Amino acid sequence: MQLEDIFKKSLLPKSDYKAGKSKADVLASTKADKLYKLSSNENILGSSPLAIEAIKTHINSLNEYCDRSDGRLRKALAEFYNDQLLTADQFITDNSAVSLLNLIESSFLREGDEIIVSNPTFKPYLMFAKKLGAKVIDIPLKGDDYSLDVEEIILNINNRTRLIFITSPNNPTGTYIPKKDMDRLVALLPDHVVLVYDEVYFQFVQADDYVRGYEYLDSGKNIIAVNSFSKAYGLAGLRLGYAYSSTKIAKYVSQARTPFMISTLALEAGIAALRDNEFINETVNLIHSEKEFLYDQLDKLGIKFWPTQANFITIKPEMNDEQFEREMLNEGVMVRPVANFGATDCIRVTIGNREANLAYLNALKKVLNKN
Ligand SMILES: Cc1ncc(COP(=O)(O)O)c(C=O)c1O
Repeated sequence: MQLEDIFKKSLLPKSDYKAGKSKADVLASTKADKLYKLSSNENILGSSPLAIEAIKTHINSLNEYCDRSDGRLRKALAEFYNDQLLTADQFITDNSAVSLLNLIESSFLREGDEIIVSNPTFKPYLMFAKKLGAKVIDIPLKGDDYSLDVEEIILNINNRTRLIFITSPNNPTGTYIPKKDMDRLVALLPDHVVLVYDEVYFQFVQADDYVRGYEYLDSGKNIIAVNSFSKAYGLAGLRLGYAYSSTKIAKYVSQARTPFMISTLALEAGIAALRDNEFINETVNLIHSEKEFLYDQLDKLGIKFWPTQANFITIKPEMNDEQFEREMLNEGVMVRPVANFGATDCIRVTIGNREANLAYLNALKKVLNKN
């Protein structure tokens, strides 16, 4: 038998998802003196200083294995969510939100099961499902404001449906799911279905009728909320995420975790970052004020954009997306075409600091001849 015969066919790539480019990938190819990376929704202010301090403190103990248990991180999470009365045994940790999504899907999906997603949205939901042999039902976000089609989702639930993925704020649209839609979806959720609520951008939300996953845990419905340290805490390169749910679901899913999954540095940095209110406030304030500045400038330039609840703004620049990406890169600005998320000719741009945003706007004017 050949290797091709023994390797699992279900793992061969089936989708056109391309991960965002790294700075190193493009540094060699741009003519610009300086490169602004606004393509991966990272934190332009860097990382939580308290997390960095914890990493420095523990850097010399890497010869020793990390804690086998994630208990200390879950305890810190329970303290963080003290007002919401979440307990340590309601948390699941893993080395990123993406890993958690994989863990959740591996825990619940068998071949032939179905998941529901609403494109345009984060691609890994459906990638993992396909690898597990599950069928993906797409109920697209509707209208120009990309709202969730709750009624159509409900109509498409059947006996094989196991997971429904919803994302608020959503990547790549930046839109959110208002409370009334969440209320209805949760109320009609049958017992054989788990709602996976991805809230990795929650810190940036300003909408009054935004709701968190924990507000529905008392409903007795199956809900898992997924979170990350990559965005507001600025720890994307460290890889750390967490989810919370009912004690029962957390116990089930935790059994599928890999032991020693969270490294010493990630565990210590995560615990410290959860106390770093100052850094979160600074980050969120920057995003909110720069978002208003960018709205104003984009309006003046007549560029279509979607109002955002996240740390990025998606625009439609009326140019082929790949050409736009290339030309912006020549000006030293990395942006992200999101056609493969389901948003044709749209470009997602991370909100930066004033310097980065001005570089972006200047490049935009040049590329689109708007001077
Ligand atoms: C909606 C959404 N969920 C999850 C993730 C992944 O987060 P992590 O870096 O923790 O894997 C991202 C990252 O861009 C995202 O946009």
